[in-house]
Amino acid sequence: MAEIAFTLNGREQRVDVEPDTPLLWVVREQFELTGTKFGCGKGLCGACTVHMDGYAIRSCSFPVSAAAGRDIRTIEGISPDITQLHPVQQVWLENSVPQCGYCQSGQIMAAVALLERNNNPSDEEINSAMSNICRCGTYPRIRTAVKQAAS
Ligand code: FES
Repeated sequence: MAEIAFTLNGREQRVDVEPDTPLLWVVREQFELTGTKFGCGKGLCGACTVHMDGYAIRSCSFPVSAAAGRDIRTIEGISPDITQLHPVQQVWLENSVPQCGYCQSGQIMAAVALLERNNNPSDEEINSAMSNICRCGTYPRIRTAVKQAAS
């Protein structure tokens, strides 16, 4: 076990866990932030996407020890307070993007990370950044929502 400190959604936090514990399980089980989902567990699907220092990472295959001293943000932390939607969440709603919804927090986290770096992404840049898998096939609505959020 090791004590690991990092910032989580703007607050300094410490956990005492095995260093190779995936960040996903620390976020979900220690902090009860269950908006971040478990899908494949192999870094392939993106359901577990969170931000580290503003970049989208797949937390299922990211050891919590690598989060030490970093700024971690989950879907629960992207808007300034719980009563407000992030603009990307707003366009997701306006476009009725989700079907089953399971992958959508990861999709939104990938979109927010993209748009924070590039507020006018090309189709190619959207395709490259939005590699998360959606079993319902909501990709066209995701693309529409990302473009609307960018405009
Ligand atoms: Fe992490 Fe699929 S659950 S990428």
